[in-house]
Amino acid sequence: MKNTAQPLLEEYQLGDLTLKNRVVMASLTRGRATNAGLVPTPLMAEYYAQRASAGLILSEGTWVSAKSIGFINVPGIYTQEQVEGWKLVTQAVHANGGLIFSQLGHVGSVSHPDFFGGELPAGPSAINPQTRSFTPDGFKDSLTPREFTVAEIKQTIQDYKQAAKNAKEAGFDGVEIHAQVGMLIPQFLSLATNQRTDAYGGSIENRARIIFEILDAILEVWDSTRVAIKFTPVALSHVGIITPDEETIPIFQYILRKLSEYNLAYLQIVGPAEDLTGTPVAILQDDYFSHFRRNYRGRLMVNLGFTQESGNAIVREGTADLVSFGTPFIANPDLVERFQHNLPLAEGNQETYYTGGENGYADYPRALYNGAMAQSD
Ligand SMILES: Cc1cc2nc3c(=O)[nH]c(=O)nc-3n(C[C@H](O)[C@H](O)[C@H](O)COP(=O)(O)O)c2cc1C
Repeated sequence: MKNTAQPLLEEYQLGDLTLKNRVVMASLTRGRATNAGLVPTPLMAEYYAQRASAGLILSEGTWVSAKSIGFINVPGIYTQEQVEGWKLVTQAVHANGGLIFSQLGHVGSVSHPDFFGGELPAGPSAINPQTRSFTPDGFKDSLTPREFTVAEIKQTIQDYKQAAKNAKEAGFDGVEIHAQVGMLIPQFLSLATNQRTDAYGGSIENRARIIFEILDAILEVWDSTRVAIKFTPVALSHVGIITPDEETIPIFQYILRKLSEYNLAYLQIVGPAEDLTGTPVAILQDDYFSHFRRNYRGRLMVNLGFTQESGNAIVREGTADLVSFGTPFIANPDLVERFQHNLPLAEGNQETYYTGGENGYADYPRALYNGAMAQSD
């Protein structure tokens, strides 16, 4: 239905999926898979089901293999037990009328030997990403990783494919490839972390190759309209040595041109968290999402710091098709209803973002409003 006042609340056709609205719940790692098998729990199913009025839910980043781990208590989707756990989640979301994609991730070198029985994690090159990993003993500095062999790269691509297959079995409606900074894919894209001299390093085409090999493998399992990808093209700080350089814009232009041929569910772009003035990507400062809109032929989802007002505005002006909200969904399970009725938003407790068990997780209340008020809108 058309909603000119709030285009965010319009129904949206995503391939053969009908989204109730354009409000997407962004992926949120919450560290609640507190069991040895990293299996999703009934509490997680309750939490996701509470948020099913979103047009689409994106699951927290989920490991595609035991080798892809780099953060504690994050669930995987590589064992049968994990698939069974995810079934609880997808069934609960569907029972409440929602849709949910699985976000498939691998942290590459941004991990720690504590996750691998003392063995080093692997990355595109043996270069320390100079960031931190959240281990069972707290945050620890990253180390110099091993360099992936080509056979390991091929195996990793197969791991994504198997995870995508598992996501289908678990009842997800689609998958999103997690290519935010901090993850494996950007480590291949950046010259700071990729100095390979084989088919996966050097030229823009070579550094971006892994994206398309992963996509092609996943497309053997899913229709392209159920597959998406999320990038943070210009993360400036808190992400170690991967920062924008002279090749950032050209490599993304290449990636976007190629992705435009795939007819994906959508491309999700995270905005800049900081001022880009004086950086190699300064040209994007006043032309960020519209730059990606112009360079990508397909559905665009935008993210970072959006509000009811700015989310409606960017859809209304035609720059975005979908808007994802991360932190607002933590303390507002009924975010969509709050937008519908112009209700204030609750603030989440940052202490329980990544830890805390039941506290600060599925216990945030819905806003109190009565039927009469709802009908008068
Ligand atoms: C607690 C927390 C966990 C997050 N975990 C993930 C994740 O697993 N995968 C991902 O792509 N982004 C993750 N993000 C980033 C969000 O998806 C989103 O991009 C970011 O919060 C900006 O959107 P917002 O301003 O609406 O919060 C996380 C953010 C927060 C606050």
